[in-house]
Amino acid sequence: MADATEFQDRLLSLGLARVSEAAAIASAKLIGRGDEKAADQAAVNAMRDQLNLLDIAGVVVIGEGERDEAPMLFIGEEVGTGNGPAVDIALDPLEGTTLTAKDMPNALTVIAMAPRGTLLHAPDVYMDKLAIGPGFAPDTVTMDMSPAQRVRALARAKGVAADEITVCILERPRHETLIAEVRSTGAAIRLITDGDVAGVIHCAESEVTGIDMYMGSGGAPEGVLAASALKCMGGQIYGRLLFRNDDERARAAKAGITDLNRIYTRDDMVTADVIFAATGVTQGSILAGIKMEPGWVTTETILMRSKTGSVRRMSYRSPLK
Ligand code: FBP
Repeated sequence: MADATEFQDRLLSLGLARVSEAAAIASAKLIGRGDEKAADQAAVNAMRDQLNLLDIAGVVVIGEGERDEAPMLFIGEEVGTGNGPAVDIALDPLEGTTLTAKDMPNALTVIAMAPRGTLLHAPDVYMDKLAIGPGFAPDTVTMDMSPAQRVRALARAKGVAADEITVCILERPRHETLIAEVRSTGAAIRLITDGDVAGVIHCAESEVTGIDMYMGSGGAPEGVLAASALKCMGGQIYGRLLFRNDDERARAAKAGITDLNRIYTRDDMVTADVIFAATGVTQGSILAGIKMEPGWVTTETILMRSKTGSVRRMSYRSPLK
């Protein structure tokens, strides 16, 4: 019999999918209602309830915020029944609260689980991110390269011209220079208004999504979730924490981070095998959104294990309660 304290990723994976499905279903009623907070709260409540049914001794390492700012799923909260393996949990009950409130594409519920002590405790600050999909040699693109050099290096590695590369970037004033530099190479840019976990995942299925590379700054917690997804799907991601003030540096110190300039690779952010689940909330390019029909709700979930590289897409239909 398997040791109950081992990370039983195979057994736990379906439970993880249930957690992300429950959060998505709970937020469904709030799609397009203009209320980010209510949508997020519904997802948080449902995710926490389902998580607490799992036989794990879980600790939230990427969550809704510090204990004093988030009453539920705060960083350090213990989750699960306590009977089972000691695990780290990284979650975003609703990745794209504004996307949900405005019924715009690619809002997801997201959760990752790994053995205790193996997920980076990223503070809630920005992270500069760079990601590409699977099949490229290590360091094909690096953080030290300029945005234009990255485009040209990836084009060379793919055996295409720079103008055949598409980069995904969050549309923000802080990215104006980055966008101009990428455009100077002739590359195309898919601008997204929110949701950079989905943005990074797009790189892992470039034939389907048309996205080759992700660049720019977004939430550091989302960086660890994206690294978890790429550890399962293949692909590379690099991240460097960005600090705007002493309060943010103090958050890093609290999370045990001493080298503030460190460039984290995918495997620095996720040091052991991980399982990852995400469920589509609004219609998207990697997952279908929630479908409501009289009496029924249907969701689509991607469920992945890095140990095997397995990627399941699961459709779940349930009677509406
Ligand atoms: P929320 O769902 O928490 O609103 O986050 C959405 C998001 O777009 C993330 O995907 C991204 O990492 C971050 O916000 C970007 O932050 P900002 O809006 O401050 O640029």
